[in-house]
Amino acid sequence: MILPDTKVELARRGNKVVYDLGDKIVKVFNETKPVSDVFNEALNLARINECGIRSPRALEVTQIEDGGWALVTSKVPGTTLAEKMVAEPARFYEYLEQFVDLQIEIHSFRSPLLPRQRDKYARMINSLEELNASTRYDLLQRLDGMKLETNVCHGDFNPTNVIVGDDGQLYVCDWAHATQGAPAADAAMTYLLFALQDKQQADAYLELYCDRADEPVQIVRSYLSIVAASELARKRGGANDEFLMSCIDVFDYQ
Ligand SMILES: Nc1ncnc2c1ncn2[C@@H]1O[C@H](COP(=O)(O)OP(=O)(O)OP(=O)(O)O)[C@@H](O)[C@H]1O
Ligand SMILES: [Mg+2]
Repeated sequence: MILPDTKVELARRGNKVVYDLGDKIVKVFNETKPVSDVFNEALNLARINECGIRSPRALEVTQIEDGGWALVTSKVPGTTLAEKMVAEPARFYEYLEQFVDLQIEIHSFRSPLLPRQRDKYARMINSLEELNASTRYDLLQRLDGMKLETNVCHGDFNPTNVIVGDDGQLYVCDWAHATQGAPAADAAMTYLLFALQDKQQADAYLELYCDRADEPVQIVRSYLSIVAASELARKRGGANDEFLMSCIDVFDYQ
């Protein structure tokens, strides 16, 4: 594929750039991204499309001329929930309620061929050179002791990945980390993603999620060290690593 001159850059991160092509969105990865990861994100998205969750359609995996591999999806015209929360702070709680209800709705779906959450977390914990063997062992033991569940989990559920469509419906994008597993683990990851930005919002989220999902807060908290290790392994980097390491330390020995 050759990218048109009319493309509009939506986001630029460590190893990728997301462009708006008008009716399609293309996520272009740099050469360091393993091609199997790009196909995996496309396959996850196809499975999510098939199980009926409102999400952009997977259209194509392609190589960009003079660039890396790319995932092409349909565009959902609208605004992200993150943008809405910033634009209208007085309505933050109202948007948070929509966000939590949407996450709980996603957890009600099943997609039996999605990767298993436990396998993914174990792989990520094992990949962490920053943790010594004893801490990795503790985290794996903790993971092993958790109840086995098979609910669809987004894995990176945060307000930047929720689009309020111009049709008034909510859509969820960015299914690179989707698995089938425990909703409480997914909620722990969302809590952590909020906490990396704003502790007060994180606490408001956790309280609302546990209330609406009828989930004990202790179960969500017991996943925090595991999801912190998993987030650390994603190597999104920067100042957050110190905070993530502190989460692993604090919650590991509770
Ligand atoms: N299909 C789509 N329709 C409309 N907007 C989209 C679509 N896909 C992505 N976007 C916009 O582009 C932004 C970045 O895309 P995406 O979330 O897929 O990548 P990312 O956050 O960089 O990925 P990751 O979290 O895996 O690092 C989204 O927050 C959203 O604003
Ligand atoms: Mg995203």
